[in-house]
Amino acid sequence: MTDKITLRTPDDWHLHLRDGAMLRAVAPETARHFARAIIMPNLVPPVVTGAQAVAYRSRIMAALPKDTPFQPLMTLYLTEDTDPDDLARAHAEGLITAVKLYPAGATTNSSSGVADFDKVRPVLERMAEIGCPLCVHGEVVDADIDIFDREAVFIDRVLDPIRRATPGLRVVMEHITTKQGVDYASQGGADLAATITTHHLVINRNHILAGGIKPHYYCLPVAKREEHRLALRKAATSGAASFFLGTDSAPHTDANKLLPCGCAGCFTATNTLSILAEVFEQDGALDQLEAFASINGPAFYGMPPNQGTVTLTKGAPVSYPAQIETDDGPVTVFDPMMPLHWRVHD
Ligand code: NCD
Ligand code: ZN
Repeated sequence: MTDKITLRTPDDWHLHLRDGAMLRAVAPETARHFARAIIMPNLVPPVVTGAQAVAYRSRIMAALPKDTPFQPLMTLYLTEDTDPDDLARAHAEGLITAVKLYPAGATTNSSSGVADFDKVRPVLERMAEIGCPLCVHGEVVDADIDIFDREAVFIDRVLDPIRRATPGLRVVMEHITTKQGVDYASQGGADLAATITTHHLVINRNHILAGGIKPHYYCLPVAKREEHRLALRKAATSGAASFFLGTDSAPHTDANKLLPCGCAGCFTATNTLSILAEVFEQDGALDQLEAFASINGPAFYGMPPNQGTVTLTKGAPVSYPAQIETDDGPVTVFDPMMPLHWRVHD
């Protein structure tokens, strides 16, 4: 029986660090075990220019110990007014790694996102030319589309047409939650990949809704039926190059989660690696964890894998805090509803 695994240090290809007191509390949770992370730009106001990305990066570094090896990989928030020249300059100077597309109104802080996809066509063409990846929140927002169908409809109505109209555009389908997302990402060739979160490997929609509503399991895209969770597990544990980890760890204070209209987001930064090891072990795929968490992501982004390693050992259940404290109030850590036996050693 395997009771020890060593992986190249993992990266998180989709992470919310927020700002201010929340940033200071959550950044160390990721920096403890991850070498790099793609930082989501959905602040209020959003990170829309190269200069704002640079300033945000400095605030992130200021929230971490001076000698931290952690590298935040910055993104710009695509709006209908994004200037292709500013974007291209920021990319050429290495200030940003990718650009994030939020359909307007799809999720937390997405009101400045894109409503008319034709308006961003010139920016997308420029991104294809310069090889800047587009990270996509893949859900339509139409009120007449059932929330559980929004990802599948987005692939047909928005994503596939964009990719056909923009050859060479490199796209990451972020936090996929459906079998349709897995199938589309599998068939998309070298310019397409998908991230999968930790929590979507663990929960289905029953966990949110059956036996009482569980706000801490509510995130967007919302968890789907069990058959979709199983498709995600199969994709993540397959080792296939199209799939890699993007935790979408998205902290909100409990005060903002536990409301009549509570915020979407699961906070998994604290226990993600232990959960992933448990999940991959359950599926007999511990040997694929490194591909998912440490190899496939950098390969897609054209970066070397990390030189360092992390080791996990299996033993008595690991304890982790139920909440982390922030100056804005407590944030609940994702509860995977199972004991976690894999302890991470730095
Ligand atoms: C994210 C957030 O809180 O910023 N929420 C979430 O449920 N995942 C936004 C997002 O990635 O959709
Ligand atoms: Zn997110």
